[in-house]
Amino acid sequence: MSGAPARKKVAALISGRGSNMTSLLAAAAAPDYPAEIALVLSNRPDAAGLATAAAKGIETLAIDHRLYTSREDFERAMQAALEARGIEIVCLAGFMRLLTPWFVERWSGRMLNIHPALLPSYKGLHTHERALADGVKIHGCTVHFVAPEMDAGPIIAQAAVAVRDDDTPDTLGARVLAREHEIYPLALRLVAGGHARIVDGRVMGGAPATGDLVNPRRD
Ligand code: GAR
Repeated sequence: MSGAPARKKVAALISGRGSNMTSLLAAAAAPDYPAEIALVLSNRPDAAGLATAAAKGIETLAIDHRLYTSREDFERAMQAALEARGIEIVCLAGFMRLLTPWFVERWSGRMLNIHPALLPSYKGLHTHERALADGVKIHGCTVHFVAPEMDAGPIIAQAAVAVRDDDTPDTLGARVLAREHEIYPLALRLVAGGHARIVDGRVMGGAPATGDLVNPRRD
């Protein structure tokens, strides 16, 4: 018996490719990581990430939202699956369904999301296109605790990405995604390890800002 504290049981919720979920699985393979990915759950039975997780021996589950008459019925099915497995933390990883306050409140302080922009800028979809159209010079990604409003909640980690003159949504998105794969495992480590906590609506003990900005001013 080791004296190490128990690893938190995490469910990753996905809707598609699952590259962020895969980055969490890779991090959780380290023996000192304070969380294990016990379940990968998708609202889309055809999500490619389900096969990726199953191939790594992780339990997977599809709960097809189209089979439920209301958003809350769908969420009750997810909630039952999460409770049945003793899940303690939920990580939304490209989960593209809006969640009701009913579900969000059940996971208050225990549900994380990754978003491909520097929140509170560029909530919603098509973040890279919109950032380029606005001509911003700094873009990036955010991991945050989930609040009932879409793409909102206390911020745990952010990474900045410098926008280049010749960027397209795809090239910019690829550099942001690489940073997503760094900060999501870091944020989950801080939350599962009990370091990051919410104080007066802000996260204390979160990750230091990171990113690929060059030649920062030092004044
Ligand atoms: C990621 O870029 C994630 O930040 C984004 O969807 C992508 C999922 O990719 N999430 C959102 O836009 C949520 N608002 P993945 O399936 O390869 O992780």
